Amino acid sequence: MDISDLTALSQKPKLFERSSAKLWDDLHLSKMMLEAHLDPDWDAASRKFSTIDASVKWLSEDIFPQKNINILDLGCGPGLYASRLAKLGYSVTGIDYSQRSINYAREVAREENLKIKYIYQDYLTIDFEPEFDVIMLIFCDFGALTNEERDVLLKKIYNALKPGGLFIFDVFTDRNRDESDLGRRWEVSNNGFWSAEPYLALTETFLYPEDDTFLDQTIVITKADTNIYRIYDHFYTKTTISNVLNKFGYSEHKYYSDVTGAKYREESKELAVITKK
Ligand SMILES: C[S@@+](CC[C@H](N)C(=O)[O-])C[C@H]1O[C@@H](n2cnc3c(N)ncnc32)[C@H](O)[C@@H]1O
Repeated sequence: MDISDLTALSQKPKLFERSSAKLWDDLHLSKMMLEAHLDPDWDAASRKFSTIDASVKWLSEDIFPQKNINILDLGCGPGLYASRLAKLGYSVTGIDYSQRSINYAREVAREENLKIKYIYQDYLTIDFEPEFDVIMLIFCDFGALTNEERDVLLKKIYNALKPGGLFIFDVFTDRNRDESDLGRRWEVSNNGFWSAEPYLALTETFLYPEDDTFLDQTIVITKADTNIYRIYDHFYTKTTISNVLNKFGYSEHKYYSDVTGAKYREESKELAVITKK
């Protein structure tokens, strides 16, 4: 590449400017992501299996114990929550726009004879009637959305919930990161996370304090091309998230420190929210 192009590429972008390439549905990256999802002991693309088990236990025993309900899992990945919930007797629909994850999830459902409907779709384009008792969006994906996407999604979720239905999700809080995370890192690899080809990856973390948002921006340079990946992390507090939810008609918000139902603590790095239509 022309090195002088790097000066322009490495500038702090406008808030919510998007990546130049797909992150979750790229042929190579989706393979790396699926490996991360399926690592039982790694809190990476999915949480550790022990945490997922604890979440499903809490949700199914304390939050929605009645089994004859419809659950929609947005960004279901390879179906780690969907298959556990289906085994407990719930009717589950999972949506994800990683073709690789959806293929894997469908295969597991076929092998284990689980009646789960998996849909390969961008969840920002869903258009359901009020047919779900519970809608979940797990592992802090809510904070990766632009404000506009978040608002679109909150309206769509509200429309898809039955009256009294629950929206369950989690976000990172203002305690998860601070200014010590800002700065630059680099990585060189012959075949690593970012590409199956030799690459140089230049990562910089930026903060947009006016919108409570961090950005991890990675420029990936291979012999053939240069791509830029931007992963946003809009962090929330109880107050900021409840202000957003109130605007869209949600009510009776309940807060926990995580999706295993741990009691809310001021210093928690994550915030799990259960809110009602
Ligand atoms: C951090 S992973 C979490 C996966 C799953 N919820 C879990 O905890 O095991 C985020 C997932 O959301 C999916 N995803 C992100 N944005 C999406 C969108 N707009 N539409 C559909 N799926 C999306 C990704 O493909 C990925 O599988």
